[in-house]
Amino acid sequence: MARIVKRDRSSPYPVTVGAETKYICGCGLSKNQPFCDGAHKATKDESPAELYWYDAAHVRHEMDDTLPAIPVPAE
Ligand code: FES
Repeated sequence: MARIVKRDRSSPYPVTVGAETKYICGCGLSKNQPFCDGAHKATKDESPAELYWYDAAHVRHEMDDTLPAIPVPAE
């Protein structure tokens, strides 16, 4: 199953516990979730006005920002 998740952060969240700092992925591209693996570097020259998606090789693709309506299941 595939899903689209919108992320606009292009850097990790530093989390310090005691004397140790870990970096939690904020971009969604890390292959070592939840930790940052440096893949966010692919997002550095993104335009804030554009919408992108990244394939498994972290190649950026532009896409239309008008996604089809997402149906809400009836309760
Ligand atoms: S913040 Fe996602 S890989 Fe670094």
